Amino acid sequence: MIVTKQRTLSIVKPDATKRNLTGSVVAMLEAGGLSVVAQRRVRLSEAQARAFYAVHKDRPFYEALVAFMTSEPVVVQVLEGEDAVKKNREIMGATDPKEADEGTIRAALGMSLEANSVHGSDSPENAEKEIAFFFAGCELLD
Ligand code: CMP
Repeated sequence: MIVTKQRTLSIVKPDATKRNLTGSVVAMLEAGGLSVVAQRRVRLSEAQARAFYAVHKDRPFYEALVAFMTSEPVVVQVLEGEDAVKKNREIMGATDPKEADEGTIRAALGMSLEANSVHGSDSPENAEKEIAFFFAGCELLD
């Protein structure tokens, strides 16, 4: 069987970094079969947060989302594995922690719809764009 490796962009959000849960998130990602192949802790500027979430700019929660994502450092990560985009979304659980399945990151660690501990790309196309937003090609050599 040919196993196709895929990459996806993950963010450990401010609610999780503030509670010192970066390692807990990584442990759950690794237990789910994904590998962290690049990782950086960064305090997003307002301009960076606005640009990253530009797709949501007309949504009522956009301003609050930008304020939240710049409130504390985040950890941006590239995850790799078979079917990584879909697998990461399964490991994260539903956007709202109240609706997330037991055993998922958001069910275990998430606090609210906004403070839901992790972000993950929603498609392979967006994964490519989101990875390029945070990481240079030379940081991602095989
Ligand atoms: P994320 O996957 O990072 O993408 C956008 C984020 O907006 C989402 O996770 C949620 O944390 C946040 N958010 C806040 N309010 C809402 C909402 N009403 N619907 C969807 N996402 C929301």
